[in-house]
Amino acid sequence: MKNPLFVQIHGAKPEILSSAPGRINLIGEHTDYNGGYVLPAAIHLRNYFLASKRNDGQVHIRAADFDEDDQFFIGRIVPSKAKRWANYVRGIFWVLEQAGYRPLGINGLIWGEVPLESGLSSSAALEVSIIKGLSALFEIEIPPVELAKLAQKAENEFVGVKCGLMDQFIAVFGRKNSALFLDCETLDFSHFPLNLEENGLSLIVYDTRVRRKLAVSEYNARRQQASDALAILKTRGVRSYKEATFAALQEAAADMDGILYRRAKHVIRENERVQKAVVALQTDEFRKLGELLFQSHLSLRDDYEVSCPELDLLYDVGQEFSGCWGARLVGAGFGGSGIALLEKSRSEDFRKAMLAAAREKNFPEPQFHEVSVGAGAEAVQLGKRTAR
Ligand code: GLA
Repeated sequence: MKNPLFVQIHGAKPEILSSAPGRINLIGEHTDYNGGYVLPAAIHLRNYFLASKRNDGQVHIRAADFDEDDQFFIGRIVPSKAKRWANYVRGIFWVLEQAGYRPLGINGLIWGEVPLESGLSSSAALEVSIIKGLSALFEIEIPPVELAKLAQKAENEFVGVKCGLMDQFIAVFGRKNSALFLDCETLDFSHFPLNLEENGLSLIVYDTRVRRKLAVSEYNARRQQASDALAILKTRGVRSYKEATFAALQEAAADMDGILYRRAKHVIRENERVQKAVVALQTDEFRKLGELLFQSHLSLRDDYEVSCPELDLLYDVGQEFSGCWGARLVGAGFGGSGIALLEKSRSEDFRKAMLAAAREKNFPEPQFHEVSVGAGAEAVQLGKRTAR
């Protein structure tokens, strides 16, 4: 716990502690901003926010993991050119202001367990932990769906990443030992138990440690291409990706180039896979689920083209390894992490096999995390203190 550090930096005790989780996504990749289905789960790794009020309209915040500070006035929030992390904090204050919630100044401290740019959604965990903490600190009632949407808006409009809503949504609504099925068009959602232990299974995250500078621009480009392909489908009476069928896409194929066709094919097929995955989860058919994960990876590799050699290695080793039921890249892709669904007794050997394969290819030394499925965002009052 970082309360002593908070007191050392700010000379006052914190009033609230909030946190929000990173996530994995079982299946449903690059479908959220296409109005489709996703099936993420919150993980045990979390980002944290401690804060107390100030009465001078200033925000003084320390990022413990970087040993860096940021300061700004609530009334004049502009993006920081020097510190990327600071824009996630500034963005949340900015978006609250925009929405008319009027947050006041604070002293704050942030730190995290979710590895950065690893495909495990450290950004959403940071955004949601802060907005959750501020709503507790200033006793602002923000309905949970709006809270997730505000965090997304901060990332879209202030940080400049045109992400969908999946990561913020699961950071808010995650539930222990459950996956969340979300319809990203209607925002209807339901939780499904993820009975891994009972079935002798484990999920591991394989972090390639590859971070791609181009990831944001490539992500935004995919978004545009998928939207262009849908516009063409719409001219043929298809209302949305959720309604689109592969047959309808084939009929429209002559109207679009190969790239748009492949992007749309991924989205349509991936939506189908998410629905099948939900059925598999409900019936504890984990072999079926695993098969869908493998299929998803191929589609992301070949049709959406967001994989890389280090992520493909997970698929290749996973396919060959007895005891690996499924594996695929997770999150935006272009580096970051993948997940593997494994027989628990084979999990250690799988890590060894992955390490050996990565070394043989001279890839960066990967990291592994055994995932336990944790809860969504939380905030606790640490007691009323005098504002500084
Ligand atoms: C990132 C984005 C999400 C989602 C995934 C891909 O994690 O933040 O909104 O689009 O990529 O599924």
